[in-house]
Amino acid sequence: MSSKPTIFIIFYSIYGHVYTLAKEIQSGLESKGVNVKLYQIPETLSEEILQKIHAPPRRDIPDITVDELEKADGIIWGLPTRFGLADSSTKAFFDSTGGLWASGALAGKPTSVFFSTAGQHGGQESTVFNTITYFAHHGMIYVPLGFANPHMFDNSEVVGSSAWGAGTVAHGDGSRQVSDKEKAIAKTQAENFANFVLTMQKGKNLLQQQQQQQEEKINNNNNSTTTTAPVTPSKTPTKQEKEDKHKGVSKCFCM
Ligand SMILES: Cc1cc2nc3c(=O)[nH]c(=O)nc-3n(C[C@H](O)[C@H](O)[C@H](O)COP(=O)(O)O)c2cc1C
Repeated sequence: MSSKPTIFIIFYSIYGHVYTLAKEIQSGLESKGVNVKLYQIPETLSEEILQKIHAPPRRDIPDITVDELEKADGIIWGLPTRFGLADSSTKAFFDSTGGLWASGALAGKPTSVFFSTAGQHGGQESTVFNTITYFAHHGMIYVPLGFANPHMFDNSEVVGSSAWGAGTVAHGDGSRQVSDKEKAIAKTQAENFANFVLTMQKGKNLLQQQQQQQEEKINNNNNSTTTTAPVTPSKTPTKQEKEDKHKGVSKCFCM
């Protein structure tokens, strides 16, 4: 593991609201000194549909690939609501991660979601809630926002977000822009997420050090005396060991 963890922001945004939040998330993460990589979800809508919904040209940001995903120490997803759920391109991308599920490649990685809906009641909570199953099946750790930013208690104006993550309310025609309060909430989510990933990284490094020291101690003891039965310390399985374990799954529907 490198000294600085790398956090991926992976988003899908047609009209720019999710992208604006993504930029705030990026600045919040960077303020905590982690590496940040910004990716888009590959588009699956046809040109015809994109024209019908008046989609502007796609941003010049790299598409995420399944192979790349494994390299992240933490992943924050940005999703626009579609009928109270994640958009179909993101769902198609999740469906292409069967191979990673089979190898357990994403297991233990922290993850979180931010989002945009047209209306206040259009799915601010359900959009995230319905993606939790993907993360649970992958064994990822969902890091919620909670009520970590005081603007979340403000009922004097429209303020997107929920305990699941930062959000904005775009209005039906997309005319409402992300407010300063929503931007501040996104920054809080990013800072808290970065702290979580940093804490995990420090903990993992410490654990590895302790395991190494324990192994060395056992080896030294074994060399000095032959009467005690050697004790094998538990250690974090390697990627190869994880893959070998999953090969034992009799009916695997993965790629
Ligand atoms: C097919 C479709 C379904 C949508 N369903 C919902 C919905 O259920 N609730 C809602 O509030 N907004 C809904 N919207 C509005 C989008 O959530 C909104 O355009 C999006 O949050 C804007 O994000 P963006 O600017 O990043 O593209 C829908 C939009 C489309 C195109």
